[in-house]
Amino acid sequence: MTIHFIGAGPGAADLITLRGRDLIAACPVCLYAGSLVPPELLSHCPADARVINTAPLSLDQIIDEMARAHAAGQDVARLHSGDVSVWSAMGEQLRRLKRLHIPFDVTPGVPAFAAAAAALGSELTLPGLAQSVVLTRTPGRASGMPEAETLSNFARTGATLAIHLSIHGLKDIAQQLTPFYGADCPAAIVWRASWPDQEIVRATLANIADRAGHFDRTALILVGPALSARDFHDSRLYAADYDRRYRPVGPEPRFPE
Ligand SMILES: C[S@@+](CC[C@H](N)C(=O)[O-])C[C@H]1O[C@@H](n2cnc3c(N)ncnc32)[C@H](O)[C@@H]1O
Repeated sequence: MTIHFIGAGPGAADLITLRGRDLIAACPVCLYAGSLVPPELLSHCPADARVINTAPLSLDQIIDEMARAHAAGQDVARLHSGDVSVWSAMGEQLRRLKRLHIPFDVTPGVPAFAAAAAALGSELTLPGLAQSVVLTRTPGRASGMPEAETLSNFARTGATLAIHLSIHGLKDIAQQLTPFYGADCPAAIVWRASWPDQEIVRATLANIADRAGHFDRTALILVGPALSARDFHDSRLYAADYDRRYRPVGPEPRFPE
C-alpha cells in the first residue's frame, strides 16, 4: 500500500492531472486538506471510500489515519491544494512516514501562481524584463521567514514576485516594494484563481492597496514589469535567423540534419 500525495490544483475541479484523478478513484481512503481542496474532486472517490477532512486534525492524528490505512493494506489519496511542493505541509508528513517505513509517492498539481498567471493572460518571464519568478510569502502566525528571505532582498533582483498568504498585508507590501520597482510598476491581485467567482484587480504599486476590496485569504499578489508590458523584444527561439536543432538555418547549421 502507498500514501499518494496529490496536488489537487487551484480550485477548478478539472485542473487536476489525469494521474491524480485516477489515484483518487483507486484509493479506498482519501484525506483532503478541506480549507482549499475543491469538494467536487471528492466525487472521484469510490462510493464506499473513507473520506476525511484533515483541516481540524493535528499532524499526529493525520499520521495515525495513514498508519491505520497502512495496517489495513489500504492505499490513501492525500490531497493538498495547488501543487504539493509549496506550502502544503507535505515535508513534515513525509518525514514521519519515512520513520514509520510507510511507502509514499507524489503527483504534482497546478499551483496557484500558474492559475493566477493564466487568469491574467500573462507570461511572467518576458525577454529583457524578467527571467525569474519568486514564489514567496510574508511571515504569518504559523510560519516565520528565514532571515534573508525579505521582500526587499527579492525585490532587488527585479524578478516577478508571486506573493502568497499575504493579502492582509497588501498596503505594507506595496510600500516595501515601491523603492525597488517604482510606483508605476504593474501589480495584480487574483482572488480565487480558477474558481467560478474568480476576481482580478490590475493596478500599480501606487494604487493596488486601495483596490483590494473584500479579498481575503485565497488571493495571490503579483508584482513586476512583465505583468502588463507591451514593450519587450521577441525571444530568439522563434527568430527566423536563429539556427537551432529543430530548425537548421544557414549554409553551415550547428546541428546538421
Ligand atoms: C497554503 S498556500 C497553498 C499553495 C499551494 N500549495 C499552491 O501550489 O499554490 C495558500 C495560498 O496560496 C494562494 N492560493 C491558493 N489557491 C489560490 C487561488 N485559487 N487563487 C489565488 N491564490 C491562491 C493564496 O495566496 C493562499 O493564501
